[in-house]
This record gives sequence, structure tokens and C-alpha cells, in this order.
Amino acid sequence: MSNTEKLRWGILGAARINQQLMPAIVAAENSQLVAIASRRPNAAAETLALYAPDEKNVQIYNSPEALLDDDSIQAVYIPLASKEHAEWTLRAIARGKHVLCEKPMALTVADIEAIEQAAADNQVQVMEGFMYRFHPQHQRVKEIIDAGLIGDVRTVRTSFSYLMQPARQYRINDSIENGSGAMWDIGCYAIHSARLPFFGLDPVAVTAMAKHIDTGADISCNGILDFGDGRYAQFDFGFEHARRAEYEIIGSKGGLKCHNVWAKQNETPVISWWTEGGEEKQEVLALDNHFRLEVEHFSDCVLNNKQPELSLTDAKNNCKIINAALESVKSARQISIS
Ligand SMILES: NC(=O)c1ccc[n+]([C@@H]2O[C@H](COP(=O)([O-])OP(=O)(O)OC[C@H]3O[C@@H](n4cnc5c(N)ncnc54)[C@H](OP(=O)(O)O)[C@@H]3O)[C@@H](O)[C@H]2O)c1
Repeated sequence: MSNTEKLRWGILGAARINQQLMPAIVAAENSQLVAIASRRPNAAAETLALYAPDEKNVQIYNSPEALLDDDSIQAVYIPLASKEHAEWTLRAIARGKHVLCEKPMALTVADIEAIEQAAADNQVQVMEGFMYRFHPQHQRVKEIIDAGLIGDVRTVRTSFSYLMQPARQYRINDSIENGSGAMWDIGCYAIHSARLPFFGLDPVAVTAMAKHIDTGADISCNGILDFGDGRYAQFDFGFEHARRAEYEIIGSKGGLKCHNVWAKQNETPVISWWTEGGEEKQEVLALDNHFRLEVEHFSDCVLNNKQPELSLTDAKNNCKIINAALESVKSARQISIS
């Protein structure tokens, strides 16, 4: 990093995910945690005491608006409920803040287009928080593919599931249209990682089926992305299954599996691969924290005027595919993606 300045961060909500992001901002060498806001009395202070107890100079605000009024804050992290992301991203941009917004950045492509325009008008950087992409294990996967070990990529399979605990039911207590349910929560990862540059292009069509509950939320889904020429990515995710957080890639000459894609910090990254020629290997990588790497990357982009690795075009494409998959579920048809 060419700049020794630290980016001054504010957090726009006292969400559970701060358990990961707050220590990540504190640990990131080019970042400084300056403030946190919550609309609930005491919640911001409690969150700070829980997840960053040693940080003594963090300002507490009783509303997100008050935090956005603080001119000393350069960037905000938005961990609000998914349906609030676009609105607060736009509000933060209007106040000249750079924004790292949790996934999904928005529920519609139109909202991301509005964010893109506002970011350009206000000369700020905005990135969707797909933290897993900053884990070095995906670079290693790319090296294995680029070395030709498994041949041409033909099929990808991504799986993200866990058994929903009663305390987490709030994640499915509203309709899909309001950002609730498995698709917006974990399906967006399964689709995003199926779009990793394995095929080098985005899909042309999607087919999906899902189970819904009374609230209107989906709790499990299976689907197929069509990348043309017989290349497919299968994705499945849900809250009624044992925990899986993995992807598998089958090529013309072998295959590989990344075992802990959305890994927690204490889960060892493991990649196993095999070839038709009889080679077989399990690579155990060093533990790493993709949340800290994500924060360091975004701070670096802002401080040194670089383009974030996850672009708004990528955010729009993911949102487009998610909405096409939801339409496929509703209509029981394959949906073309233009
Ligand atoms: N990257 C990841 O690994 C990861 C993991 C989990 C979630 N996420 C994403 O992060 C975002 C937040 O998820 P989360 O599960 O952390 O959300 P959450 O705890 O439900 O918090 C979301 C917002 O709701 C408010 N809130 C929190 N607890 C509340 C309560 N008991 N009663 C009323 N309001 C409450 C908070 O705003 P106020 O403080 O202003 O009230 C908070 O910012 C989502 O978009 C999700 O998709 C990402």
C-alpha cells in the first residue's frame, strides 16, 4: 500500500454481522473505526462493547442520519436489513461517503443503476460486501484451473446451507419481495460464486425451484445456470439442511473442490483436486480472515483511488440473475438473461 493514511469508517447499524466486521475494521492496517450508529437506544454502545471492547474513541450516534452528518467520516459500512441497503447507500453517497454495503446491495437492478449514477455524481467508491471473494483460496483455485490441471471447465456446483436455529427465524419472517428468505440471505452467495470467473462469462439463462413458507420467504432452492455450449452451474442453498459451504468444479480432465468457501475464521481452507491422469491432492491453506481483507481492499481503493475488485457491474449482474431465478421459481419456466 502506497498510502499510510487510515480511512475513517462509520458503521450504520448495530447488526449481528458486526461480530465479524467490527473487529475486521479495527484489525485492518489502513482503517480506523470512528463511529457506529443505531436507531435503538444503547444498541450501538452494546455492540461496540461486545465486538471491539478495546476501542475507546468510537463515537456513538443514536441515528444513522447523525452519523452521516459527521464530516470526519470518510466511509460507511452498511449492515442494515437487506431491504434497506439501497436507500441507505444512496443517502450515504449523497453525504459524500464511500460505501461498503452488505450483500445484497439492492433487490432490483434499477436501484443499483441509481447507486451507480449517484456514486459517479458524488465521486465516491461503492462496493457490495461479498467478503468471501477476498480469501486467497479462490486465487489458488484460479491458478489450478489456469495451469490446465482439470482441463476446460464444464460444470460448477455451489452449495450453501445450514439448519436455521429458532433465534434466527427473523431472517425468514417476511416476503422475498421485502428481502427476506434464503435467496437474498445465502442464495446470493451461491449464485455469485457460481459466476466466479470459472467460465469467463455470465450465464444466458436460469432455471430454479424453491420451497416457501407462510411468510412468503423461500427456505430452500435448487437451480441451474446455463453458460451455453453445455456448460452449467448448479446451485443449491437452504435452511433445512446440514451445513455446507462449498463449490466443486468439474473440467474435461479432472475436478476440484473448495471445501470452506464462506469460511469462518477458524475453519481451515482446504482445496482438493484430482485428474484423469491419476493425480490427487489435498491442499491445506493458511487460515485467513476474508472480512479484514475485504475492509483493507476497500480502504486501499478509496485511499489510493483504485477501482474495487467487485464492481457495480458485477453487483447488477448478480442482482439480474437472482431476479431471473426468482421469476423462474414463480413461473416454473427457464428464464433467459439478456
Ligand atoms: N457477509 C456475511 O458473512 C454476512 C453474514 C450475515 C449477514 N450478512 C448481511 O448483513 C446484513 C445484516 O444481517 P444481520 O443478520 O447482521 O442483521 P440484523 O442483526 O438483523 O441487523 C440488521 C439491522 O436491523 C436492526 N436490528 C438488529 N437487531 C434488531 C432487533 N433485535 N430489533 C430490531 N432491529 C434490530 C439494526 O439496525 P439499528 O441498529 O439501526 O436498529 C441492524 O443494523 C444483511 O444484509 C445480511 O445479508 C452478511
